[in-house]
Amino acid sequence: ACGNSDTGDDAGDGNGKIVLGFSQVGAESGWRTANTNSIKESAAAAGIELKFDDAQQKQENQIKAIRNFIQQKVDVIAFSPVVESGWDTVLKEAKDAGIPVILTDRSVDSADKSLYQTFIGSDFVKEGRLSGEWLVEQTKNATGPVNIVELQGTTGSAPANDRKKGFAEAIAANPNLKIIASQTGDFTRAGGKAVMEQFLKANPKIDVLFAHNDDMGLGALEAITAAGKVPGKDITIITIDAVKDGMQALADGRFNFIAECSPLLGDQLMELVKKVHAGESVPARVETEETTFTQEQAKAALPNRKY
Ligand code: AHR
Repeated sequence: ACGNSDTGDDAGDGNGKIVLGFSQVGAESGWRTANTNSIKESAAAAGIELKFDDAQQKQENQIKAIRNFIQQKVDVIAFSPVVESGWDTVLKEAKDAGIPVILTDRSVDSADKSLYQTFIGSDFVKEGRLSGEWLVEQTKNATGPVNIVELQGTTGSAPANDRKKGFAEAIAANPNLKIIASQTGDFTRAGGKAVMEQFLKANPKIDVLFAHNDDMGLGALEAITAAGKVPGKDITIITIDAVKDGMQALADGRFNFIAECSPLLGDQLMELVKKVHAGESVPARVETEETTFTQEQAKAALPNRKY
């Protein structure tokens, strides 16, 4: 290792490469797999030695991984925090060891902003808001109640908290729009399917499904079809991410709208790693550029999607 780091080459193989410890949330969704691939490819391309840990969606595993990285004296730590709360102690340990930390994809609710250098990722509130605004426009002529069910992401995670908030704020514009049930499906297909089955059993009239990611929406498709309803027609489906399978469902008319969340954070992350390692200043927040897709837009975009 070089630059201003006093952690030396202890973590590496002495080849002078920057050593990055990265703690990933897990492999819960297509988005996450694409994100992991992006980080591994970009690290290799940037000549950065990557120590990668998969936390299997458990905060305790992430804390363990970060402590291991500290012990190994890596040059930089980056991680995607599974939930927002409970990071201050371990972040303080990294700071005391002189190892800079970069938050990737998801943020933490720590009041002390000096515990990390920067946060690179999406504006999740905006994704929820864009989803809600699309629905408000679609239902502007509705004369009666529009019943919405919501599949939330992992409880306590930034994308679940923020997407819920943005969507709720947007749909408040039309009092006909009502969330009649809202539960976590943990960002997985299996979770989306199981919770949608319960929603369908308990609620005879569901007009709209808002799923916090494509995978839960894809799982819900099975439950909807099994209940004898036509997804995309009987039930309007809005999701977030725009991974390939989600975009295919949208192009096929089974989904109705997707707000994009880009997992391709690898290149920008490696740039930031190099900068913080060299002691250069970095912006406190680096926001990912994103768009939204209707069915027609998905048909046009699908052939060029990378993930
Ligand atoms: O933090 C990003 C979210 O995590 C993605 O929307 C979801 O698919 C993933 O599991």
